Amino acid sequence: MTKLRPLPSTGAISGILEALAFSRDPNFAKRRFKRLGNVFETTMLGQPMVFIQGEKAITDLLSQPESIEGWWPESVQQLLGSHSLANRNGTAHKTRRRIVGQLFSSLALQRYSAWIIHLIDNLSETLKNSKTPVPLTEKMRHFAFSVIATTVLGVEGNDSDELFSDFKIWTKALFSIPIALPGSPFAKALKSRQRLLNKLQSILNQTLKNKGGLDLLAGSLDEVGIPLTDADLGEQLLLLLFAGYETTASALSCLMRELLLNRKIEHWLREEIDFLEWPPTPKRATTIYDPTNAPRLDAIVKEVMRFTPPVGGFFRRTKQSLTLDGVVVPHNRVIQVALIDSNRHGIGDLDIFRPQRHLENECSLNLMPFGGGERVCLGKSLADLEIRLMVVGLFRQLELEVIPDQDFSLKQIPSPSPRDGLLVKGKNRSLENLD
Ligand code: HEM
Repeated sequence: MTKLRPLPSTGAISGILEALAFSRDPNFAKRRFKRLGNVFETTMLGQPMVFIQGEKAITDLLSQPESIEGWWPESVQQLLGSHSLANRNGTAHKTRRRIVGQLFSSLALQRYSAWIIHLIDNLSETLKNSKTPVPLTEKMRHFAFSVIATTVLGVEGNDSDELFSDFKIWTKALFSIPIALPGSPFAKALKSRQRLLNKLQSILNQTLKNKGGLDLLAGSLDEVGIPLTDADLGEQLLLLLFAGYETTASALSCLMRELLLNRKIEHWLREEIDFLEWPPTPKRATTIYDPTNAPRLDAIVKEVMRFTPPVGGFFRRTKQSLTLDGVVVPHNRVIQVALIDSNRHGIGDLDIFRPQRHLENECSLNLMPFGGGERVCLGKSLADLEIRLMVVGLFRQLELEVIPDQDFSLKQIPSPSPRDGLLVKGKNRSLENLD
């Protein structure tokens, strides 16, 4: 039997320097994993936190759901609200997941596909016709927001613009110090949260015009069998904006960056994409670009999620003592699963971007860009659909050229994103000879 080890610690007490290092050093966790092993504890601004990396530790964690629960920093908890399923556990969490999950069933996704394709074709036109370079990152952000706000929630025009401007104020304070001093980002975010909820409330109160997917939630019952209150539903919708916007925009921007900076990989992908159908019918859109029909596209999406995961880590709290990769973690500890480090932890060329690895028989990477266990991402299938449609839609119709002399490096916070916004020029592509 392997001997259990006590939890190694950095020795930090106040955690002020640790928090500073975390925000400045992209190799914060990597350095400490190297020194202390795959499971270690530190303190960040007074909050003890256990970092874990590697398949063994993560599998040990997620295979003991009765011993863990969800956790978010205080600022996120307050801004999402006490009804939000992200802040709930047990049956209250499960019931709300089931309700919100109705928005991401395969029938719901088929319904959204036509609008998503329309957004992509519009973007393609803009890129083709623009006389000046277009910042692709901003376009990806706009697209990711439109998909949730308009396609899923059915919000259009002015309502959508107002929602977006409050949403930006709200997100700025998500990972801030949760003290509402007058004029502080957190105080502003609390006010914008109220406006966002009022707006979402009025959307829920409108007669359902078969716009978006909200009619799918009609008649939803909570864990004791009574209809979910409007306040409760409103907070679930707010969570969708939070969870689905920055993440999807980051995945799309990083993917475009890799393709445009690695012409060989772009060419390798185009050899597959040029023979795929565009636009697909809404019914076929949800399956036509799956790994069987589009293995190279699948490999590129997986590699982007591995190399620059949109969510660098996710949290849990222990309800009782647990053993993770041979290390004993006491009860009531916050755990951060370090995805960035886990994705590059192992043997081989894991520090380079090489999508082909996912098509090799010996590839045994167990990636978790969408988290895992009982809290695995609810919007995974929507995100997958958005990304695959966008790549096929743009690259089938356009040649994209990056503008030189811009900073292609990634800023990491809140999610990886090209610093100068990935300025591109687009031009039409003729596929006559290929069809
Ligand atoms: C590439 C895009 C995305 C990535 C990488 C991503 C990743 C994640 C991760 C890592 C988690 C935490 C899972 C855990 O704690 O185990 C999560 C949770 C969640 N995601 Fe996503 N996500 C993406 C897009 C979306 C979209 C488009 C939506 C919906 C519009 C969405 C809705 C949610 C929700 C509601 C949760 C909370 C689940 C719960 O606590 O039970 N996500 N996501």
